[in-house]
Amino acid sequence: MILPIVAYGDPVLRKVGEEIDENYPGLAVLIENMFETMYEASGLGLAAPQVGLPLRLFIIDCSPFAEDEENASDVSHLKGLRKVFINAEIINEQGEEWEFQEGCLSIPDVREPVSRPEKVRLRYRDENFEQHEEEFDGYAARVIQHEYDHIEGILFTDHISPLKRRLLKRKLSDITKGNISIAYKMRFPTPKRMR
Ligand code: NI
Repeated sequence: MILPIVAYGDPVLRKVGEEIDENYPGLAVLIENMFETMYEASGLGLAAPQVGLPLRLFIIDCSPFAEDEENASDVSHLKGLRKVFINAEIINEQGEEWEFQEGCLSIPDVREPVSRPEKVRLRYRDENFEQHEEEFDGYAARVIQHEYDHIEGILFTDHISPLKRRLLKRKLSDITKGNISIAYKMRFPTPKRMR
């Protein structure tokens, strides 16, 4: 089932996610629905707060990076990098900071360069609640760092300069009000009838 994606301005995007346990009702279905929702919206990652649930859960599928033929570096390992992260905790971030144009399904049509360290090591549970400790780098690290921010109540626009953020103010407020046209299903914090 496709779930509506929560738009910028909704307080749920600012909540620190709560841990979930194995008995969380309907977890398998929720994860399945999140993948369906993410693919429908052509996203590379999706976090539970983006479907209205302040939980420490996010998913990624980095395959589109592997299909980008203009990519100079070897990205074949990203094909099929489809993963579920439950109760993730970052252990450390290392390497040189690099800039990459980020976007977010909750903030349509906004893309801005964000600097982050090259590598991230984290501890998490997968969809079967098996514990892992793993390091990711490059594009995979980037998507994970972005999604991890979501479960901490942080958005990529928090990482850009105050000046750039000021320039985006009108656009962000249009998103909150739903004054945008988008190809996927969204839920806006300020519905039209309330304006
Ligand atoms: Ni996002």
